[in-house]
Amino acid sequence: MRDLTLDMSSCLSVDGVRITRKGKSLLNVPHLALDGPGPTLILGPNGSGKSLLLRCLHGLIVSDRGQVRQDGVALNADHKARQAMVFQQPVLLRRSVAANLDFVLKRQGMPRSARKSRIEELLAEGGLDGKVRQSARSLSGGEAQRLAILRALALDPETLFLDEPTSALDPNATQMIERMILRASTRGVRIVMVTHDIGQARRLAADIVMMQGGHVVEHGAAKQVLDAPKSDAARRYLAGGLVT
Ligand SMILES: Nc1ncnc2c1ncn2[C@@H]1O[C@H](COP(=O)(O)OP(=O)(O)OP(=O)(O)O)[C@@H](O)[C@H]1O
Ligand SMILES: [Mg+2]
Repeated sequence: MRDLTLDMSSCLSVDGVRITRKGKSLLNVPHLALDGPGPTLILGPNGSGKSLLLRCLHGLIVSDRGQVRQDGVALNADHKARQAMVFQQPVLLRRSVAANLDFVLKRQGMPRSARKSRIEELLAEGGLDGKVRQSARSLSGGEAQRLAILRALALDPETLFLDEPTSALDPNATQMIERMILRASTRGVRIVMVTHDIGQARRLAADIVMMQGGHVVEHGAAKQVLDAPKSDAARRYLAGGLVT
């Protein structure tokens, strides 16, 4: 079990990061520091750079310049090993539900004797206890997303990135996933999550990063950003207006 006090003080920051493709600036973040316990929710219109920022924080995209840092140190393989990411459309192995989790635990070096009980624990956490032997590819969208989150949690990550994990789900499935995320957050996992759902941001977020046109237009405590946004872009986005 990790030390919560350490997690609280850990800082994931972005400094001078720029991503351009074919002369077009896609992401331009002079400075962003995620130094609270989170959950941090990233909001903004389609194409505003939310997924790019998430990939950047996870080290999946190397920026043209600038740096992502964990506690002041340039993101390295050790940091990345303590991060996990759940993509919007997770790809599950063509194996049983349990085998999908076993694969990750085995890769982590967990002995077979410990894996069985850890798998049971994880399945109970995701409400998938009845699905142990079912083929992962035959799960419903909500169940598959829960398994993808469990697979990420099986890595015992310090930081968990989630890219719109509930965008295709009904309210009940969304609520189950939100509960999993909140429990993980309470256990000390730093959550950084993209959503288009303002209600979800209100329910989950401690702080909110608002994006537009590849820029972070606002970052602050959730209540402040949602109830008294400082930027025009955030105000219009929250009001449901078109932001161009
Ligand atoms: N590899 C790439 N090459 C060229 N353009 C890219 C690449 N990756 C992303 N983009 C562009 O960068 C912009 C930001 O993309 P990103 O996926 O981060 O948006 P987003 O905010 O996550 O949008 P959505 O809400 O639709 O998921 C988009 O205009 C996208 O087309
Ligand atoms: Mg996206």
